[in-house]
Amino acid sequence: MDRRRVLTAIAATPLAAAPLAASVAAAGPALAAGTAAGTAAGGERRRSTLVIGHRGASGYRPEHTLASYELAARLGADFVEPDLVPTKDGVLVCRHEPEIGGTTNVADHPEFAGRKKTASLDGVATTGWFTEDFTLAELKTLRAKERLPEVRQENTLYDGLFEIPAFTEVLDLRARLSKELGREIGVYPETKHPTYFAKAGLPLEQRLVDTLNRYGLNRREAAVFVQSFETTNLAQLRKLGLRTSVVQLLSAEGAPFDLVDAGDKRTYADLVTPAGLRAIAAYATGIGPDKLQVIPRNPDGSLGRATSLVTDAHAAGLVLHPYTFRAENTFLPADYRRGTAANDFGRAIDEQVAYLRAGIDGLFTDQADIGVLARAVAAGQSIGAAQPAPHSAT
Ligand code: G3P
Ligand code: CA
Repeated sequence: MDRRRVLTAIAATPLAAAPLAASVAAAGPALAAGTAAGTAAGGERRRSTLVIGHRGASGYRPEHTLASYELAARLGADFVEPDLVPTKDGVLVCRHEPEIGGTTNVADHPEFAGRKKTASLDGVATTGWFTEDFTLAELKTLRAKERLPEVRQENTLYDGLFEIPAFTEVLDLRARLSKELGREIGVYPETKHPTYFAKAGLPLEQRLVDTLNRYGLNRREAAVFVQSFETTNLAQLRKLGLRTSVVQLLSAEGAPFDLVDAGDKRTYADLVTPAGLRAIAAYATGIGPDKLQVIPRNPDGSLGRATSLVTDAHAAGLVLHPYTFRAENTFLPADYRRGTAANDFGRAIDEQVAYLRAGIDGLFTDQADIGVLARAVAAGQSIGAAQPAPHSAT
């Protein structure tokens, strides 16, 4: 995949989007059907395979910016994924973690130098600047920067341009783009470090439910998945009245921090057993595993054979949306790389097709356009003449 071609297409977005809009309008009902996710207790599975714009289009723009989310939608993502953390004044904003030194220019603001600190973040000493020490107004004086400048040098072009968005800005954006593109752009918010923020006196859960209520999105059939790497807060969200689809995130190693904090010995490995999956299905619609839990790699780094996770999750009535698919060689299995340059794009479409054929129900990707292509290839669609429509029933 030639990134210059992608960027050229992006620059021409308003014109390029026009013919696309007509074709995707026809796909609306299919998406609507697909968006009627299973019940909280693990009911019917989605009929469509979802492309989820991971942190927006973070392969092409600094993550968690409105520019990144908008681009993901325009490239065909069905959902955009904001990770959520609170500000000092209790506003949900979009960042991958509380610490903002890695993704903003806060270090260049001398007025905030005194706020640098070391905090224990889920048991890990972390030094930097933290959202809970900034009001929304203060965060708005900062600008985003690329997290991975060595890998994504092209994205540094945008350093210093974009604000940290509030969650409500993402909801406004998705409403506007849904109208313009003629298809519903879903939102897939993740509650980040719930235990940490609860202890800081800034719990995320009620704020999230209130916001979804305010936007009319706290509905079972809404195009919303709420996700968390912790377990307790997902159950708590249900008690607070959350009615949307819910996804339990999983990891290839370690344990949910809420369990660690409570002295509960269960790990993610326990959660992915058939019994563990049945327990998750009591409150969640699906799981978001590390992709290596679906198809691990061989000792030589090549792509291995699928585990039983797809079968086991489906047997429990859960959909699977693994993370994170990235096109650069450095993130790909050894046998899916092209050339020797770590940051060049490899056979990312082929990698995603392998996972889609293993039966996953959606995928988180930094490059939504590649996810859309892979979905079409996996479905056997002819794509010789044009980029496939953003959403296709599969
Ligand atoms: O939420 C799915 C995926 O985003 C989980 O990983 O660390 O990128 O939030 P992370
Ligand atoms: Ca996430």
